[in-house]
Amino acid sequence: MNSNQPIGIFDSGIGGLTVARAVKKLLPNESIIYFGDTAHLPYGDKSTAAIQAYSVRIAEMLLQQKCKVILIACNSASSAAYDLVTEYVGKKAKVFDVINPTVDYIRENHSDDKIGLIGTKQTVSTGVYDRKIQSLNQNIKFSALATPLLVPMIEEGIYEDTISQNIISRYLDDPSLEGIQSLILGCTHYPIIIKEIKSHFRKLEDPVEIIDSAETVAKALKSFLEYHQLNNKTSSTKDRFLVSDFTESFEQTTTTFFGSEVQLELIPIWDELK
Ligand code: DGL
Repeated sequence: MNSNQPIGIFDSGIGGLTVARAVKKLLPNESIIYFGDTAHLPYGDKSTAAIQAYSVRIAEMLLQQKCKVILIACNSASSAAYDLVTEYVGKKAKVFDVINPTVDYIRENHSDDKIGLIGTKQTVSTGVYDRKIQSLNQNIKFSALATPLLVPMIEEGIYEDTISQNIISRYLDDPSLEGIQSLILGCTHYPIIIKEIKSHFRKLEDPVEIIDSAETVAKALKSFLEYHQLNNKTSSTKDRFLVSDFTESFEQTTTTFFGSEVQLELIPIWDELK
């Protein structure tokens, strides 16, 4: 690995651009190769076996692009395929997911809280956050809620209006989340609705901290690169944004997730399997 190599980031689609944005903000010298597996979107209701097969193939492609880091910017893929991708990649690159840095953050800052999590059906049903948080052996109570309407809602551009606020409140009022002191956004789409989530909790007496996994993983990545002197010291080459299926609407939505316009390149990595 050397410092000039790019950072590979992948997600089921464009939601992971919230992670790319957090990485770019903290590490502006790094160049990013982003891959959105838009041909298989959404991962949230795919089987574990399918997500594992997609993730390993994507990791292989990012290794071919000489990435020094492969960041799984999707909670569904992180929960289904982190171990497998780490094993597959070996010493060729460092693999990050969005779950472990979040669990580390909780260990350091929330050791005796009641913590809630919202995420896709896949992320919640694998119980991965639950297991990792319980294994910290701290006085933490944990409760996870699948909120499957939120990803399609965000992708349809429905946010910051009364419909989205109603849907968000309907989920966040679920009895399983009562009394939480912090809430993990267990899906990389959710930073888009963070304002509405915060405003929902503002009505309550006790404050609820919203833990954004995009931010926690970007900080963990920065520490790793600095510690191993792998951070890019010269200004980076151009970022690339690749997708496995191209539509205009994907390209239009990228601005919402990345914060600025990006040009998508179609790379049909699944064609060989057809
Ligand atoms: N961005 C994905 C995640 O973090 C959710 C979208 C999907 O279901 O593919 O889980």
